[in-house]
This record gives sequence, structure tokens and C-alpha cells, in this order.
Amino acid sequence: MNEFVLQMKNIVKSFYGNNVLKNVNFNLERGHVHAIVGGNGAGKSTLMKILTGVYKKDSGEILVDGKKVEFSGYSGATSVGIRMIFQELSVVPTLTVVENIYLNHEERKGFFNDDKGMREGAKKLLARLGIDVPVNEKIANLSVGYCQLIEIAKALSEKVKILVMDEPTSSLSDTEVTRLFNIVRTLKSEGVSIVYISHRMNEILEISDEVTVLRDGEHIITDEAKNLTIAGIINHMLGDTERNAFEYHERRKIQNPGVMIDVNELCVDNLITDVSFHVNEGEIVGLAGLMGSGRTEILESLFGIRKIRKGKITIQGKPVEIKNTHNAIRSGIALVPEDRRREGLVLIHTLKNNLLLALFDKVKKSRLFIDSAKIKKISEESIADLNIKTGSIDTLISNLSGGNQQKVVIAKWLKNDPKLLLLDEPTAGIDIGAKGEIIKIIENYAVSGKSVIVVSSEISELVAMCDRIVVLVNGKKAKELTRNEINNQGVIQHAIQG
Ligand SMILES: Nc1ncnc2c1ncn2[C@@H]1O[C@H](COP(=O)(O)OP(=O)(O)OP(=O)(O)O)[C@@H](O)[C@H]1O
Ligand SMILES: [Mg+2]
Repeated sequence: MNEFVLQMKNIVKSFYGNNVLKNVNFNLERGHVHAIVGGNGAGKSTLMKILTGVYKKDSGEILVDGKKVEFSGYSGATSVGIRMIFQELSVVPTLTVVENIYLNHEERKGFFNDDKGMREGAKKLLARLGIDVPVNEKIANLSVGYCQLIEIAKALSEKVKILVMDEPTSSLSDTEVTRLFNIVRTLKSEGVSIVYISHRMNEILEISDEVTVLRDGEHIITDEAKNLTIAGIINHMLGDTERNAFEYHERRKIQNPGVMIDVNELCVDNLITDVSFHVNEGEIVGLAGLMGSGRTEILESLFGIRKIRKGKITIQGKPVEIKNTHNAIRSGIALVPEDRRREGLVLIHTLKNNLLLALFDKVKKSRLFIDSAKIKKISEESIADLNIKTGSIDTLISNLSGGNQQKVVIAKWLKNDPKLLLLDEPTAGIDIGAKGEIIKIIENYAVSGKSVIVVSSEISELVAMCDRIVVLVNGKKAKELTRNEINNQGVIQHAIQG
């Protein structure tokens, strides 16, 4: 048998004249994990969508088990055991967990769907993956992290030969990642071959046998993971560009800062109980915890999306009542949500118009007219500041790569200049070069006296920017860590596990 389960040869793909894959070669050994890394827009997802029949290649060849294949559509690929965990998630929000898992391959008993059988099957699958959600829960009620896990469960509900995982962990914290990696190792031992795409460099070396680097649609290198270092991979990814280190810098602090927000005994739904903390002017405070610990719920309640059941909030000494997003925005609060595709962007609009939606007050000339020169300038600045890879400011958001879409949402709120910025997983899906950029922008923001509350599953990211960290366990505040304690990642990890 051929040692390669998959060979992709000289793959070429253009979108509207924009050449995004230039003669790319990619070989996957049977039973191996092969990582693909590269900056946002490098062509990783496109290459894998060509394999799975989602996109059509312009030229090149694909061999599976040594035989030439040509899939028209994803169902063609799944019928030979190729499955993909999509970066943009393919779960249907209006359906339940079990309905999503068995979508398009419902189990039958005679003429009818075997609902009981599927429920039992789904329960077993979730138990095996260590996912604790009821199988009858609607996807719309789950956080992004859980949606990611359900997306994974769905891919594993049928026999797979080749599994493509496109950013499966961008919303998972370390504990959940460890669990996922155990599953990956089990699959490997069963002979499944895996393509693994991630921007988290430490994961790449931990889980993969081989690594391929793409840059601007070109194949740069393929090598065994054991021959590579993180620094080396980053150099291959980014070329010789200058970049910001991913570490904490003492910032210039404002003199005698006041308290920006004081949160007292906050209770939200039945998820958050009696959480109290404050953030000073010019301060960056992190919220850390496992999936389901209540981090996102706190941000959402401060932005008026979730009902505050009890608790007092003051902003710069004044008591405020946050009942809806209007109240929050009036009080100078902005939220960059975790699920940016669902909540943060209008995909069928252009980049410029997405910025315009958030900045309307800033760029309107009169009641009827907007200052189009100004919005053009703001759009161009955002593209340059965050290094957004796009054809122009008039490109449709849906045509940007996953990471570049994320950057547009962040730009949108940064340009809005709120007093208190709430960031939920600000660098999920963002490449290592731009992560440094975003952290620098957030730091500069704090230097000007504004305040930030940030949720991140990546401990190294919290370490790189936070002045203090509030640790949540099961909806309660478990600990507050000072900057000195933050320097030790082990202390944070320990506190998170409760
Ligand atoms: N449907 C599409 N129409 C037009 N252009 C597209 C489309 N899909 C992708 N592109 C472009 O192709 C290029 C590669 O995108 P791709 O999504 O493969 O990047 P990626 O490496 O997966 O990046 P990321 O890390 O941000 O997910 C980008 O410039 C993107 O704008
Ligand atoms: Mg992608």
C-alpha cells in the first residue's frame, strides 16, 4: 500500500484573478498528523476546501490511496471517509446537538428515523469525547467553545480515514485542548490520518509528525516536527518581517488613576454568583477560567446582552444601570464578541460598510449624509494598523480569510474609541504576527487612560498583557492574581482548575 494516504500535486487556485494557491504540493502519510501553518490568508483553508470538494481547483492533481480523485461537493469527499472540522463551524444553530451530529446521515429503523438510537449514539460519542452537554440542547444556546466540540463530534460520528481540523482549538482552554489531543492520539492509533491547522504554535509541535508552512499561497517547507522549533516555524511563516515579541512590557501608567468600573456582587442568570471586581483607569484586567466558568457571561452582562439579576455597577464613580446594549454604549462600553462571525459582522457587506455600521456617529456629516472621505481614511488606517489582507476596502467580508474577518471586527470597535473595552478571545484565529500587533494596540489603548477587560483561553496571551487576572470557577470568583503572580503560568493554570 502507498505510504501516503493523500497526495496533492501542483494545486493552483485563483478567486476573481487573485492567485491564492501557487503550485502547492502536500503529502499526508498514513496514520500521521501533518500540520499546516501560515499567516492569515496564506491559503490553508482554501487548500483543504479543495481536498474536501468545497472549492474546485483550477489545476493540479489529488490522489487518495494512490488513486486520482475528483470530488464535486463535500458529500463526495465524505463518502470516501474524508471529513473536515470547519474553521467557520458548520453546525446549524436552530437544531439540537443530536440533530447536528446525525445531520445528513440519520439512522433509520424501518421507515422511521431511529431517534432513540441516535440519542444513545450521540450520548456515547459525547461521553467518549468528554463533552458534557445535553444532547437535546439547541446549538444556539451553546458557547463557541462547545460549538467547536460539537463540530468535532459531528466529524467523528462516521468512520473517517482522513480528518482535516481547521483551527479546532481557537476557543478552547488548555484543559480542553489536552482532552482533544488525547482523542487525536487515539484516532492516530486507529490509523486515521489527520491534517491539523492552528495558529497556536505550541500545539503544532506537540501534536504533529510533519509540518508544512505556506506563505502567500506558496509552499515554503515541509519537515518533520522534531527537526523544527517554534521560532524557526515563525520565521518561515512571516518571512523577514519585523514583529512584536509576545511578552509583557511595563507600560507608562497614568498618575493617580481613578476606578473605571466597579462591579459589586454581580449575579447573572443562574450562571454567575456574587462576582465582585474593579478595573482602574489605564488598567488591563483578564478573566480566566475553563469553558463554562462564566467569563463570556460576565462580559455579555456588562454590555447589556444578558440580564443582570443582582449587583451594583459604577462607572467612574457614577452608578449605572445596564439593561440593554444602548445603556452600555452610552456609558462608553464596547464589546468585541467571541463569536464574531455570528455577532460582529455582516458577511454580505464590504469591509468599509462593516466599519461604517459601528462608526456611523463619527462619520455622519448631517442627518442624511456621511463623510465618505473620512470613512475611506478610517478603513485604510485599519487595514494598515492590523495588517488586514484584503483586495480593497470594498471587498466583501465573506471573501476574507477567517483571521482577517476577525481583524475587521476588532478594528471596528477600536476606532469607536470606548472608555471601557471588553474583549472576548481577541486573538482567536489570528496569526502570530498580528497577535503581537493586536496586543500592542490594546496596550497603547490602556496607556491613554482607558480600560480593558479581556477574556482569553490562551494563558500566554493573558500573561503578555494583563495587570491583574480574576480567576473564575463555576461562575464564582475563585482568586485574583497580581502582576507578580501572573509571571508564573503554573500559578494561573492551577487557579483555573479550581
Ligand atoms: N470564497 C472566496 N472568494 C474570494 N476570495 C477568497 C475566498 N476564500 C478565500 N479567499 C481568499 O483566499 C486567500 C486565502 O484564504 P484562506 O481562507 O485559505 O486563508 P487561511 O490561510 O485559511 O487564513 P486564516 O489563518 O486567516 O484562516 C485570502 O486572500 C482570501 O481572501
Ligand atoms: Mg483559514
